[in-house]
Amino acid sequence: MTADSELTKVFDMRANANENYPSRLITNINTQTVETFVRFNCQRYAEFGVNLGSTALEIARHLGGKGEIYLFDFQYNVDYVDELLRANGFTNVRKFGSSTKLLDSYNWPLSNLIKDNSEPLFDYCFIDGAHVWNIDALTFFLADRLLAVGGLVDFDDYDWSLGTSPTLAPNIFPRTAEFYTDEQIADQQVKRVVDLLVKTSPRYEVVIENKIYRKIAHDGAGQKTLRPSLWQRLLGR
Ligand SMILES: C[S@@+](CC[C@H](N)C(=O)[O-])C[C@H]1O[C@@H](n2cnc3c(N)ncnc32)[C@H](O)[C@@H]1O
Repeated sequence: MTADSELTKVFDMRANANENYPSRLITNINTQTVETFVRFNCQRYAEFGVNLGSTALEIARHLGGKGEIYLFDFQYNVDYVDELLRANGFTNVRKFGSSTKLLDSYNWPLSNLIKDNSEPLFDYCFIDGAHVWNIDALTFFLADRLLAVGGLVDFDDYDWSLGTSPTLAPNIFPRTAEFYTDEQIADQQVKRVVDLLVKTSPRYEVVIENKIYRKIAHDGAGQKTLRPSLWQRLLGR
């Protein structure tokens, strides 16, 4: 089978599985992401939005079987990328698929990981999925809970908007106009997440402006608890 006919098969499968998201999406390796992952000697990689696995495969090649790779996307995409990585000899992969229900996303499996783990799981979070505030603002806060201090959070497409997207612009994918207001379609929603939530946080410092930020403290670290402990309350202090 040629690469072209293989891709057509994948696009057809995605079109059948999900009418709420474009099926014909090709994305390249994010080289700044891979270079930064390598430069900071990270081992545990989480990617939110994996598409066909270009960046994930490059990270896997760098890790060479060490560390861990967490894949988040619709089930059909994490299945595809998991298989791709395994076919290339990499088994250090964990996949977290979400359904194609309109309001579902990788935030749901992330909540389960938070429920089941009290220690950080990730050194690097590449947030390259929905690119919209209603999903990725929450993804940032959830990923932060599982990101080690010293770990990195990486946002792709700071300047992107639904309105200028070659796959999601309303004239190409009419559902975008059903799901979002004109203001939201024109807005740069990744920029909104980075500017309002990451840049304003004293717990993150810049590594690459508008893209990669390093976590320097956990939420609440160094702050005095406002609620007195049980012992303080019993002793009337
Ligand atoms: C830009 S592509 C990811 C490219 C990939 N990071 C790479 O480097 O090749 C965006 C991905 O986000 C996924 N995505 C968008 N909305 C989603 C949602 N609500 N739940 C799960 N995945 C979603 C899409 O299926 C798509 O694969």
